[in-house]
Amino acid sequence: MANQAKLNAAGKDFDFPVLQGSVGPEVIDIRKLYAQTGKFTFDPGFTSTASCESALTYIDGDEGVLLHRGYPIGQLAEHSSFMEVSYLLLNGELPSKDELDTFSYTISRHTMLHEQLATFYRGFRRDAHPMAIMCGVVGALSAFYHDSTDIADPEHRKISSHRLIAKMPTIAAMAYKYAVGQPFLYPDNNLSYTGNFLRMTFGVPAEEYEVIPAVEKAMDRIFILHADHEQNASTSTVRLAGSSGANPFACIAAGIACLWGPAHGGANEAALNMLKEIGTPDRIPHYIERAKDKNDPFRLMGFGHRVYKNYDPRATVMQSTVREVFEALKVTDPLFETALRLEEIALNDPYFVEKKLFPNVDFYSGIILSAIGFPTTMFTVLFALARTVGWVAQWNEMISDPGQKIGRPRQLYTGPTQRDYVPLDKR
Ligand code: ACO
Repeated sequence: MANQAKLNAAGKDFDFPVLQGSVGPEVIDIRKLYAQTGKFTFDPGFTSTASCESALTYIDGDEGVLLHRGYPIGQLAEHSSFMEVSYLLLNGELPSKDELDTFSYTISRHTMLHEQLATFYRGFRRDAHPMAIMCGVVGALSAFYHDSTDIADPEHRKISSHRLIAKMPTIAAMAYKYAVGQPFLYPDNNLSYTGNFLRMTFGVPAEEYEVIPAVEKAMDRIFILHADHEQNASTSTVRLAGSSGANPFACIAAGIACLWGPAHGGANEAALNMLKEIGTPDRIPHYIERAKDKNDPFRLMGFGHRVYKNYDPRATVMQSTVREVFEALKVTDPLFETALRLEEIALNDPYFVEKKLFPNVDFYSGIILSAIGFPTTMFTVLFALARTVGWVAQWNEMISDPGQKIGRPRQLYTGPTQRDYVPLDKR
């Protein structure tokens, strides 16, 4: 029968509906599998599982395609702004000029933090990793906004989303300022979302801070490139946390915790550290051999992706942005030459070719961020800042779905079967 998948289990046939999205592979709807067959599916790492229905972002990993609400990432990176992409992700359509102005104004009205939040920072050691601070401070926002905690109310969800998008740059900049021992700067809402973030990060009260337009543009583009990426680990974490009806700020803190890992958002920090360790192009072959050695845990950071089995389209934009930033700041970085050479050598090596390992978004981003002046520990913070819009858009989409259920996977149990307790003196 069309649009049905047949499963033969224990000699019996079962039919399951096959669902078709607007584009992309069909999915077999196995929601009734356990009820009908008494069996679960086994898919650790979710390599073959669509965990939800979503209309936000589409990725074709084989072709290297990434679309937000249908718009290719390359076009958005070239022509759009982070505020516009945020509006698009949240609302489904590109805004008119008036809609964009109103949205940007609304976000700018939420950029300040409650004064008491500043005291949270002082509880952290000065050498705390800024991602640790981000987890703590964003989670702590749950204790501040009691006027919008009804997640069933779309208006409350909207206010929480706006607050999160608006406050992340302030929180991130303060994490940086705390580490370097400089005073926190209040937002300046005359500046753009990104310009304001750069000023809060690199400005000091004693001097006028001048936003360099090319750097502002590059940073804004980096935010666009990180805005959303369908059901990646941190987004799935936000959805899972949110599925229980948890406070949105706490859900985003959970996403930040997941993003921190070196296999996910932490890879940009790890990639630059790796390039520094490699140093000069003549040392690349040694590291390529290490990456291929099964007994060596070393991997080429910024290489490979669960979904992309082709060039990550975000990496293409990143690579050209490196050149723009170097030109604007009149700097170069020998690590860029090392990165280009490493990419060339890896892409011609049968190991990487056969496993379809290509540079991902994190491979070049560290070089740009470093040129702008960010320490490596801030890289994942910037990722979290930008991804917040994706997280809140996905969270909103999930909560608005009337069929939404708490996320509760099952398992293949391999522990001991039932046995009787043995008293301590008999063990
Ligand atoms: N260097 C060397 N070998 C690699 C790399 C790498 N960067 N990535 C994958 N491989 C190899 C694995 O050893 C494995 O080989 P095998 O089949 O012989 O066992 C094979 O390629 C498949 O790799 P998996 O880890 O099974 O693939 P998975 O989809 O689970 O992992 C991941 C994807 C985590 C991104 C992986 O490629 C990786 O660790 N990359 C480095 C970290 C990184 O750059 N992460 C950022 C991802 S993008 C993002 O989160 C924004």
